[in-house]
Amino acid sequence: MGMEGFDPVQYRAGARREWDSVASGWRKWWPTIELGALHCSRTLLDMAGVKEGHRVLDIATGIGEPAVTAAGLVGPSGRVTAIDQSPEMLAVARDRAVASQLSNISFMVMNADAIDLPDGFDAAFCRWGLMFMPDLPAVMARVRGVLAPGGRFSAAVWGQAPNVPMVSVAFGVIRRLLNPPPPPPGTPSMFSLAEPGYIEKVFGQAGFTDVRAERLTVAMEFESPDGYVDFLKDVAAPVSAIVNKEPRAVQDQVWRAVAEAARGRRGPEGAVRMENESICIVGTRPE
Ligand SMILES: C[S@@+](CC[C@H](N)C(=O)[O-])C[C@H]1O[C@@H](n2cnc3c(N)ncnc32)[C@H](O)[C@@H]1O
Repeated sequence: MGMEGFDPVQYRAGARREWDSVASGWRKWWPTIELGALHCSRTLLDMAGVKEGHRVLDIATGIGEPAVTAAGLVGPSGRVTAIDQSPEMLAVARDRAVASQLSNISFMVMNADAIDLPDGFDAAFCRWGLMFMPDLPAVMARVRGVLAPGGRFSAAVWGQAPNVPMVSVAFGVIRRLLNPPPPPPGTPSMFSLAEPGYIEKVFGQAGFTDVRAERLTVAMEFESPDGYVDFLKDVAAPVSAIVNKEPRAVQDQVWRAVAEAARGRRGPEGAVRMENESICIVGTRPE
């Protein structure tokens, strides 16, 4: 796939700024997010074979998942290292670890394609980060390099757009009203790893064996269509990045139309429930 017109250095700087700018939104919304997403963390930790006493690595931990869940599992004799490119997201993650009185977890600002850590990790995992990484082969090589032989790497990526209404409802409106240029093929985006069989190929090409994927549903519930819009504004960096480029009046028009589009998904109590497909994958570093 071609990546003409794509500047990875510029992309990285922009992505870091975007994620920093939504960190306070993630702090506000994490109970809603985790209500729907905790079982994805648990699935990833199970697939990666995380156990008491393990030394494990969370890549693109954001506000600390699955790292915080893993810290409970590995216990005081284990150790979690969690990395992310965004210092602001990590600040929220640190606060969550302190609130949970966890002392077996450390957070570091680090880009996933330049992981620089002592090797020998028993397991590694990444929830909803890989599709945003411009140099995925470099990331996969780094992860493989820091895993102990036999160690497993599990990751969650989003399924195809129509199966992820939490984002595609908004993108549908944005396409209709703003018609932004699509990202050049092969460049990072929410759905860049969604094509059936694609992520399995990425793991296989990186030299992981026993590659296996499963699909799960991540249900997100918002108290109203306007609550859904507030969530997107606060949390969805890739969505806000497009809308925020527009003049204020156009932004308001887009958000009103997104709320309208979500109205059809209200349940009897008025809450909006969206069931989203996530692909979870695991592979093993050969002995
Ligand atoms: C959707 S959030 C997911 C956060 C968390 N893992 C979760 O599931 O709640 C994506 C995260 O990936 C991080 N990220 C994206 N590209 C990265 C890279 N190349 N290196 C490190 N972190 C990256 C972003 O900063 C952001 O915190």
